[in-house]
Amino acid sequence: MQIISTITALRHRLRDEESVAFVPTMGNLHEGHLDLVRVAREHGRCVVVSIFVNPLQFGVNEDFSKYPRTLEQDCKLLEQCGVDVVFAPSEQDLYTQPQQVMVDPPAIANELCGAFRSGHFRGVATVVLKLFNIVQPQVAVFGKKDYQQLHIVRQIVAQLNLPIEIIGSETVRAADGLALSSRNQYLNPTERTEAAFLCRTLANMGKAMRDQAALNQAKLNQAKLNNLRDFSSLEQEARDTLNARGWKVEYIAIRCSSTLLPLTAGDKDVVILAAAWLGKTRLIDNLEMNLQDGLS
Ligand code: PAJ
Repeated sequence: MQIISTITALRHRLRDEESVAFVPTMGNLHEGHLDLVRVAREHGRCVVVSIFVNPLQFGVNEDFSKYPRTLEQDCKLLEQCGVDVVFAPSEQDLYTQPQQVMVDPPAIANELCGAFRSGHFRGVATVVLKLFNIVQPQVAVFGKKDYQQLHIVRQIVAQLNLPIEIIGSETVRAADGLALSSRNQYLNPTERTEAAFLCRTLANMGKAMRDQAALNQAKLNQAKLNNLRDFSSLEQEARDTLNARGWKVEYIAIRCSSTLLPLTAGDKDVVILAAAWLGKTRLIDNLEMNLQDGLS
C-alpha cells in the first residue's frame, strides 16, 4: 500500500490504472468505512481511499478543529483491507488558492441536514468534485449512512456528466443498532446507551407506516390523503418522544428515497431520515422502506 500526499504524485501513480475504485473519507476510520473499501475492492482493480478533513464543509461553530485525526492508525487498517493507495493531501495542497470556484448543489441541499448546516453540502460537493478530478475513478463508493450526501453526489455525477459509477453501500451498525460514526466517540457512556434509541425510533416509525399503509389500502375509498397526513403525525410523535427523552431533534422526515422530496401519492420507496443532538453530539440516521402497494 502506498501513502501519497501530493496531487502530482497521485496522478503519476494512477497514470496507467484502468480500473480505479475510490472511497473518499475524512479518516478516523471504523468498520463502516472499511466496509466501503470491501465494496470498492469488488468494483476496481486499484482501490484508492482519500483521507482529508475538509474545512469547507464545516460551519463556523462545528467540530472542524476537534475532528479526530488518526492517520497512522487509519493506514494500518486500510493496509489490512488490501487498499492500494491512500491519498492524504494537506490542506495547502488541496486548497492551494482560496477556493472561490464552488459547486452549487441542487435545491434539496438546503433541506434536511442542509437546513441546519448552511453551506455544508456546497463544501461537500466542491471537495468531492475536486477529489473526483484528481483521482479520476471509474467507480466511487459512498455510505447510505449519509443518505442526503449520497443523493447529492449522484446528482452532481448525473448533472455534470461525470463518467463515474456511484455505489451506495449499506450502513454498518453496532450490535445495538447505532450507526457507526466517527462522532460516536464524543458520547459519554450514558449517552452511548441512549444513542441506539434513534434507530429504534426509526424502526418503530417504519412499522407504524407499514401498518398504516396496509390499513389504508384496505379502505381505499377513504380520503386519498389519509396516508400522508397520518405519516406526518408519525413524524411529530417521533420528534416528541425523542425530545422528551432529552434529545434535541433537528428533523425527522419521511421522504421519497429517489428524490428526497416529501411523499406524493404512488411513492413506494421511502426513507425516514433523522438528525438529533444527544448532549453535544449530533447524530444522523435513516431507514429505507418499501411500501409494497405504494401510497393511495
Ligand atoms: P466520512 O464521514 O469520513 O465518511 C466517509 C464515507 O463513509 C461516507 O461515504 C459515509 O457515508 C461512509 N460511512 C460513514 N459511516 C458509515 C457507516 N456506519 N456505514 C457505512 N458507511 C459509512 O462523508 C464524509 O466523510 C465526507 O463528507 C466526504 C464525502 C469524505 C467529503 O469530505
